[in-house]
Amino acid sequence: MIIGPGDDAGVYALDKDHYIVETVDIITPVVNDPFTFGAISATNSLSDIYAMGGKPLTALAIVGFSPCDYGTTLVKEILRGAMTVLQKSGTALMGGHSFEDTELKFGLAVTGIIQKDKVLRAQGAKPEDIIILTKPVGTGVLSTALKGGKITDKDMEQAVSRMLTLNDTASEAALKAGANSATDVTGFGLLGHAHNMVKGSSVDFELSCRNVPVFDRVRELIAQGIAPEGAYNNLKFLEGSIDSKDISEEEMLVLADPQTSGGLLITLPENSLSVFKETGVEFSVIGKVTQGAGNIKLKP
Ligand code: CO
Ligand code: CO
Repeated sequence: MIIGPGDDAGVYALDKDHYIVETVDIITPVVNDPFTFGAISATNSLSDIYAMGGKPLTALAIVGFSPCDYGTTLVKEILRGAMTVLQKSGTALMGGHSFEDTELKFGLAVTGIIQKDKVLRAQGAKPEDIIILTKPVGTGVLSTALKGGKITDKDMEQAVSRMLTLNDTASEAALKAGANSATDVTGFGLLGHAHNMVKGSSVDFELSCRNVPVFDRVRELIAQGIAPEGAYNNLKFLEGSIDSKDISEEEMLVLADPQTSGGLLITLPENSLSVFKETGVEFSVIGKVTQGAGNIKLKP
């Protein structure tokens, strides 16, 4: 075993040049349409492989559903959606398992491959690195608002299209640009995953809130008091490890919002930013790495 629990995925040495990389992720619906849910969940499950610098090879599907509430047509639609993403990413579906559950759940266990010298670890950021993020945040707030009837499917379109964007090209761009560290932003929110990248290390992250890309309507919904419980839990978990004295509670909820199929959070030397730019992958520069003691400092 090369990398165990604590990073985005586990890494195991296969031979002297190749590692296999393994991960599993299961989520509850974030949109109303089952086909789209299947496709988003598959994109989300593949993300940890890309966050490690790997390429997915095979996947196993995991479905939890209540046969009293849903028929097999719904499960077939979810799988059909997932298959489109697996085909696009060149991943073979090898089988899977379903079980009875009161709440609908779907996800994949994925196995991928990485070349030995191309592993992207969550930790490894160096002082002077710049920090970039490849997708806006706010999917947790939006799907909470959708479930509560506060917004329509149409209002979700921008976020859905980004949740359906694979992190494959972002991963390749990070490798090409010689990134020092990378992770994907998912359930712990931008702040939680940033914390994981610095904790116990000798660097700090300085994040500039105004440069963090946020989906339309997210700030407005938070101002109305709409935020998922997970955002509050994330903030509670991070208490004491973030310097946020000039930041409003609403802004903190944006930054801690749990993401589904979020973007890659990458640190790389400033002089290789042009290499990343040339790849055409969308990104925002959201901060910089300094010498430190594993803290996160937020600036307005
Ligand atoms: Co991850
Ligand atoms: Co994960």
